[in-house]
Amino acid sequence: MAGHLLILGAPGAGKGTQAMRLAGKHRWAHISTGDIFRRHGERGTEFGKKIEGYLKAGELVPDSLTCEVLVDRLSQSDCDNGYILDGFPRSVRQAEQLDRMLEEREEALDAVIVLDIGDDEIVERLTARRNCPKCGKIYNLKFSPPAIEGACDNETCGGAALEEREDDCEETIRQRLKVYHESTEPLIEHYAARELVQSIDAAAEGPCEIADKIEDILLAQGVS
Ligand code: AP5
Ligand code: MG
Repeated sequence: MAGHLLILGAPGAGKGTQAMRLAGKHRWAHISTGDIFRRHGERGTEFGKKIEGYLKAGELVPDSLTCEVLVDRLSQSDCDNGYILDGFPRSVRQAEQLDRMLEEREEALDAVIVLDIGDDEIVERLTARRNCPKCGKIYNLKFSPPAIEGACDNETCGGAALEEREDDCEETIRQRLKVYHESTEPLIEHYAARELVQSIDAAAEGPCEIADKIEDILLAQGVS
């Protein structure tokens, strides 16, 4: 069944970790605006040049550019079987634009999963995060390290060297958190008013246990 989910949470709450699992399991598209922006930056596109300063500073990319990316991504055929939004919307204005996009597509959100975690735990997590540049798998040197130090576990990646994200230094993490509390956190109220919000304590347990909780929520909503 096509699911339409939104995962909301602070930087480092585990949005990407959970969205990747869900996408793989249910064959839904994983839509991370942050990943799309970083790929533009890596490829050195004109769009990437326009947005790289915002990412480096931990600031939001302007709504017009972000919505352009989202409309384009939603038009791809893999979204027809359902999708998980990770990192969009990030402001009430973006949420209103999403409402219009959903209306046009004759779709509705099934649930808004909020991953709840304190700021200090986030700094600890993000300074230990590493990513595979080939498959995108997310590791953590403290909580989920690769089997071989510094290399991706996936056979198809051929031992690719793991990388750190440029915005994972403490100063930028603190700025991203500030932006989250000011611009994105109010969305919890926005969606709670529609009775869509399901909150999970994202610091108390590991990724597998949190994934099980999300599956329980989906079952209860009749989405599977
Ligand atoms: P984006 O890429 O979305 O970054 P973010 O929101 O800061 O979130 P992260 O990707 O850092 O964290 P995550 O929640 O995905 O956590 P993860 O699963 O990796 O956005 C980057 C930038 O792009 C923004 O700052 C902005 O400039 C721009 N941007 C993006 N979208 C935008 C928009 N809509 N509008 C405007 N600008 C936008 O996990 C983190 C670490 O924790 C990993 O090491 C992981 O292994 C570990 N971990 C996960 N779960 C657990 C657990 N349960 N226990 C222990 N460790 C765990
Ligand atoms: Mg992420």
